[in-house]
Amino acid sequence: MAIIAPSILAADFGNLAKDIEMVNNSQAEWFHLDVMDGVFVPNISYGMPIIDKINSLTDKVLDVHLMIVEPDRYISTFKQVGADILTVHYEACTHLHRTIQAIKAEGMKAGVALNPHTPVSVLEDVINDLDLVLIMSVNPGFGGQKFIENTYNKVSKLKQMITEAGADVIIEIDGGVGVQNASKLIEAGADALVAGSAVFNAENPTEYIAELKKA
Ligand code: DX5
Ligand code: ZN
Repeated sequence: MAIIAPSILAADFGNLAKDIEMVNNSQAEWFHLDVMDGVFVPNISYGMPIIDKINSLTDKVLDVHLMIVEPDRYISTFKQVGADILTVHYEACTHLHRTIQAIKAEGMKAGVALNPHTPVSVLEDVINDLDLVLIMSVNPGFGGQKFIENTYNKVSKLKQMITEAGADVIIEIDGGVGVQNASKLIEAGADALVAGSAVFNAENPTEYIAELKKA
């Protein structure tokens, strides 16, 4: 059974407390929180005050996905607002090894996200330092996009790399995920599934999460 991480980007920001409560009462283990800076990606989402508030309203894991340049500047701030897992983009980090160590030094789990064009092989020399790899199955920046089919291939390759290295790393998939592709992703090696629009646009989000859990 995969870990389910509803992405709050697709929630109703006018009734955020209600959507947080829905996730709290669901089988989802994590909140997926997308931070966009308008530079690394062509969109701006939300930041620390929202995450801080969500942290005060839940006991679940806060899985923070940073789509920002120079993430090193904010590592300790995200710890302060309650991040449990902090994921940075490979493409945004010149000194990735240092960034990973800085996240872990703050007591958070360290994740690295890969854009669709970035091969998993770039993580070979840091795979044993990581807690999580986030494979983007859409180009980051927006919810509701179409799933990129090559993702299955990347998940299998990453799974193999992790096994060969004897590493303990969670494989998380983000973008265009729903009941239509969840089983196939898990078969390929996925451990955690992010779902935004599929969950929050569902007629019954709680039930939809339960269906994803069954996949
Ligand atoms: C996209 C974000 C995703 C987004 C996924 O850049 O990283 O987490 O919320 O949304 P859906 O599930 O609608 O593709
Ligand atoms: Zn995300």
